[in-house]
Amino acid sequence: MNIFVQKAQQDHVERIVQIHGLAFIRQKDSYQWVVSTLNAYPRYICYVIYVEDQIAGYIFWAQKSGFRPEVILELDQIAIHPNFQAKGLSKILITDSLKMLDLELHQNEQIIKKILVSTSKDNFAKKIYQDVLAAKEVAVISDLFRLAEVYLISDRQDLKFLDNSF
Ligand SMILES: CC(C)(COP(=O)(O)OP(=O)(O)OC[C@H]1O[C@@H](n2cnc3c(N)ncnc32)[C@H](O)[C@@H]1OP(=O)(O)O)[C@@H](O)C(=O)NCCC(=O)NCCS
Repeated sequence: MNIFVQKAQQDHVERIVQIHGLAFIRQKDSYQWVVSTLNAYPRYICYVIYVEDQIAGYIFWAQKSGFRPEVILELDQIAIHPNFQAKGLSKILITDSLKMLDLELHQNEQIIKKILVSTSKDNFAKKIYQDVLAAKEVAVISDLFRLAEVYLISDRQDLKFLDNSF
């Protein structure tokens, strides 16, 4: 099976919107959410994962609090189309997009220092972030969204799949 990750482009919008709508049923106006995020490059950097000729999912990364030499990156949103879930794609999408992003930031004389990610307390995505990003739980905010939100942080030194010769 041919699986690959690439930067999101304007002609991916329709499919990303569809996946967003299926993955986050309580969120409004998928189209505006996706378009405004894609248009906010390089504050937001977006990738898609293809399986053969179909986009199976997307990831939005965000640079926090300015364009800093030492970047605090947030995994802003990830979703895999229901037809493609539980096949290991999220892990490929996170690692491959992060490797590409790390290289791009390096070319701009920036380096990823830490990664922030959050998810609701009952979402199994927490385990994905712990496994793939070696993320550690640092806080729980009980009254933010519908359910308590868990915040996790990972350090660059724990991201063994990145080029640490930078
Ligand atoms: C969360 C999400 C991105 C995971 O993507 P995915 O490609 O299906 O996940 P993977 O196949 O890479 O699975 C990663 C791990 O999660 C486990 N997993 C996958 N689906 C699961 C489910 N429905 N329930 C429990 N565990 C599950 C897998 O078994 C795997 O664990 P392992 O590494 O121990 O084998 C996807 O389910 C999704 O889009 N969900 C809706 C949107 C969402 O919740 N996004 C995250 C918001 S923080």
